[in-house]
Amino acid sequence: MGKKNTVLTFQQAKEEGKKLTMLTAYDYSTAKLIDEAGVNSILVGDSLGNVILGYDDTIPVTMEDMIHHGAAVSRGTKDALLVVDMPFMSYQVSVEDALINAGRLMKEGGADAVKLEGGVRVVPQIKAITEAGIPVCAHIGMTPQSVNTFGGFKVQGKTEEAAKQMIEDALAVQEVGAFAVVLECVPAALAELVTKKLSIPTIGIGAGAGCDGQVLVYADMLGMYSDFVPKFVKQYAKLGDVMKDAIHGYIDEVSQGSFPKEEHTFKISDDVLEKLY
Ligand code: KIV
Repeated sequence: MGKKNTVLTFQQAKEEGKKLTMLTAYDYSTAKLIDEAGVNSILVGDSLGNVILGYDDTIPVTMEDMIHHGAAVSRGTKDALLVVDMPFMSYQVSVEDALINAGRLMKEGGADAVKLEGGVRVVPQIKAITEAGIPVCAHIGMTPQSVNTFGGFKVQGKTEEAAKQMIEDALAVQEVGAFAVVLECVPAALAELVTKKLSIPTIGIGAGAGCDGQVLVYADMLGMYSDFVPKFVKQYAKLGDVMKDAIHGYIDEVSQGSFPKEEHTFKISDDVLEKLY
């Protein structure tokens, strides 16, 4: 704690075999709590589409959404490396688009680095963005922006062909300068193999303990998002229940007139008050 995490922290952790921690955040207050707890990296994931905006998937998330939430999170982040997701269609159409939008996430969204989904097929984009001085975290395996191609949120890399492709994707993104790669919903043994083959760290989500680090959506691990709880999530708290209890308490006390009490109110002098009657 108290020391800014950078891409060098990530590289050093890989070399020293130290595990990296990453959590998502989408707003100032949550980012501040997570940063102060000492996580290595905060990800403004496009999962904000589900968690914050209530969409079914990440497809509708825009650059404006990512910039708005990125900037808020950056104001609450001191030591964690701040990674901001490139949303669907902000980098797929052309390398030029990718470069302009990655630059906007840095300049307007407060990002220290950007993350984009894909392996070999986004190599030109990753190369151009890293060459422009913007660190890139790649993301392969079950990449949620391709949910319609996968036919659902399914574990990837289970056949020989798919597993070989995943290894090729991981090596390709490393080759063009990605500083880390997220492996999402990948069989644990395959994720461990990919991790061994790479000199950059792997950050797993649903990819087992053999990765160099782990990432979770904060609302999942705190038990605040109940629409869908994936198998790979461990709930470290049930904050959703705690919040509901507190809200019931508030409703009860307001209904009964026991809140607010005197200690929650402001005073006016009796002299002034008298003159008002
Ligand atoms: O958007 C997100 O939160 C992510 C993580 C699940 C890795 O990409």
